[in-house]
Amino acid sequence: MNYRIETLISRAEVEKRIKELAKKIESEYKNKDLICVGLLKGSVMFLSDLIKEIDLPLQIDFMNVSSYGDETTTSGNVKILKDTDLDVNGKNVLIIEDIIDTGITLEYVLAMFRAKGVSSVKVCTLLSKPERRKVKVFVDYIGFEIPDKFVVGYGLDYTQKYRNLPYIGAVVFEEN
Ligand code: IMP
Ligand code: MG
Repeated sequence: MNYRIETLISRAEVEKRIKELAKKIESEYKNKDLICVGLLKGSVMFLSDLIKEIDLPLQIDFMNVSSYGDETTTSGNVKILKDTDLDVNGKNVLIIEDIIDTGITLEYVLAMFRAKGVSSVKVCTLLSKPERRKVKVFVDYIGFEIPDKFVVGYGLDYTQKYRNLPYIGAVVFEEN
C-alpha cells in the first residue's frame, strides 16, 4: 500500500514542549528521588531529550512490554519482555511513554509498579489520542493531544521504520 508522511508536529514545537514538561517535572520532584522508566522502544528519543532538561539527580531504567489488545478483546494481553533492573520499591517512578492510545498497556504497567510497592507512580507521555481510549487511565504529563491518526517519528514507528524522524508525522495511506 502506498503512503506518504505529512508533518503533524514540527521539530521545533516538539522540542519546545519537551522543555516545558521537563521544567514541570523538575519542580514536582525537587528533593525527591526519581526513576524515569522508559517503555521500549518508542520512548527512547523522548526520554533522552526530556531528561537532559531535568536538572535533578534522577535515575533511568527501561521496560519492554508487548500488547496484543485488539478490537475483539476488551482487556488485551500484555506481556513483559524486559523488566526494570533497578529496585523500585519505595521509590518515585515516572513512566515515560511515546503515545497513549487505548491505555491498555499503561493500565497494566501501572498495576505492575503498584504491586512492586513504589512510593508513587506517574505517567509522562509525548502524545495522547484521547478518542481511542478503551480503559480509564490518568496521565499526569501530556506533550500533545492528537486526533485519531497513525503517527510516526520521534520514536514512533510504522513497520519498525521512521523512529528516527525528528518530528511527528501522520501516515496518510493512498489508493493504488
Ligand atoms: P495502548 O495505549 O495500549 O493501545 O498502546 C500504546 C502503544 O501502541 C504505544 O506505545 C505505541 O507503541 C503503539 N501505538 C499506538 N498508536 C500509535 C501510532 O499512532 N503510531 C505508532 N505507534 C502507536
Ligand atoms: Mg510503545
